[in-house]
Amino acid sequence: MYTINFKFEQKGLEPVTIDNVEAGQSILEIALDNNIELHHNCGMVCACSTCHIYLEKGEDLVAELSDKEEDFIDRARNPRLSSRLGCQCVLEDGGSGTLEVTVPDQSLIHGE
Ligand code: FES
Repeated sequence: MYTINFKFEQKGLEPVTIDNVEAGQSILEIALDNNIELHHNCGMVCACSTCHIYLEKGEDLVAELSDKEEDFIDRARNPRLSSRLGCQCVLEDGGSGTLEVTVPDQSLIHGE
């Protein structure tokens, strides 16, 4: 089981902790299941950059960064070393631990 701590760059949003998260889900899916706003214009198929997040901790607990994902991260707003696409960060089977995710301000994301 995993724990995910979400923090938000958008002003006024308090951090959220989600416990007992099962493997096999992406950070995007987990966010949406918990009413956390995160855009996903391409429908979660690694063909946009609107689900961009910063994975501050727990990189080893999710699927590795692919070349295609890296290409789309380059087109995201304010990419950093910790940048990932939420739909591509799928929690690894058989693992456990804590991830820390920062969600960019969704009010500044306008499509692809
Ligand atoms: S939803 Fe488009 S790349 Fe994640």
